[in-house]
Amino acid sequence: MAITARPTTAKRTAYPRPRIVGAKTEVPLFGGNHTRYVNLDSAASTPPMVKVGRAVEEFLPWYSSVHRGAGYKSRLSTHLYEHARDSVMRFVGATPSTHVVVFVRNTTEALNLLAHRILLEPGELVLTTRLEHHSNLLPWYRRAHELVELTADGRIDLNDLESRLKKHQGKVRLVTISAASNVTGLLPDIRRVASLAHNYGALISVDAAQLLPHRAFAMGALNDTERIDMLAFSGHKLYAPYGTGALVVPASLFADGEPMLVGGGTVCLVTSSGISWATGPDLEEAGSPNVIGVVAMATALEELMRFGMDRVAEHERDLTKYAIRRLQDIPGLTLFGPAWEPVLADGEDRLGVFSFNLAGHPYRDIRISRLPQF
Ligand SMILES: Cc1ncc(COP(=O)(O)O)c(C=O)c1O
Repeated sequence: MAITARPTTAKRTAYPRPRIVGAKTEVPLFGGNHTRYVNLDSAASTPPMVKVGRAVEEFLPWYSSVHRGAGYKSRLSTHLYEHARDSVMRFVGATPSTHVVVFVRNTTEALNLLAHRILLEPGELVLTTRLEHHSNLLPWYRRAHELVELTADGRIDLNDLESRLKKHQGKVRLVTISAASNVTGLLPDIRRVASLAHNYGALISVDAAQLLPHRAFAMGALNDTERIDMLAFSGHKLYAPYGTGALVVPASLFADGEPMLVGGGTVCLVTSSGISWATGPDLEEAGSPNVIGVVAMATALEELMRFGMDRVAEHERDLTKYAIRRLQDIPGLTLFGPAWEPVLADGEDRLGVFSFNLAGHPYRDIRISRLPQF
């Protein structure tokens, strides 16, 4: 069964576009002029939504430690913190009865944590790909791993993936892949990768740092061959730059074992004769968590769900086409990665992430003096 993302309702399409903090900020240019700043760096980090900033302001008087106090503020903070896990579950289409949400600082920490929990038996390995951000590459360098090759035009080579799965005959424990490239905007067919991985007895984890801000997404149910087993993302790429991200995993992965960081909150009992570790997300949320970051991220996810991710995608597709046309008009500019014409012709879906060279111009020069006309 194919996994479909959340449906749009007529009611949702009436919801106003979320506003961004600093959208009208003027910045100085060389030569003394000022211009309205257009943020072309959202693939790296987004500004906060106005609603997110307000939610943080409103929460501050109620802020207290979570899971540690019986006072009113502590109970309220704990409630909001735990409730935020539901927002994440709904945003990524995960099943609360089978999965847990662990709050971390960002995608990088989420993937390091995942690499810590994936304990390989002798002979087992992880497959990652040559398309990955370092955050989904370097944690696996600490484990037995192989890299899936790319095709000549820079896409994941699914034949290479399948032949490696075949070659290792059930020994591939995990296939881990980015759902969207931060360099070319390519959207690998992660559903096909998921079903290949599952057919050969492997799990699949997805680095969704780039995808989630742009497309509706559903991890899917445990019995679906196209499901995504584990997912990592960052709040600062989703209009909540307050230092929180999440790892969503099957609860079974956190049922036992020792945590990556040990300390307060990770145990049920400590005696002189031993330690009884906590289970579920508590096991990997050592110390006092970033409650404000979690409240901010949940607010952003709720706001995006109210607005509708399909509307976000539609708007982004228009902007992407506009950007391709304008970039192609600049003499001496070479866009890297596969050709963008299929995107212009609605023959391929791709994020509006561009890597390019402008002949004879160092990148700092381009950033300041060449792009204000956007
Ligand atoms: C595809 C991808 N994965 C992972 C990351 C790392 O995210 P963070 O810096 O929030 O940990 C990024 C950041 O740019 C990214 O684009």
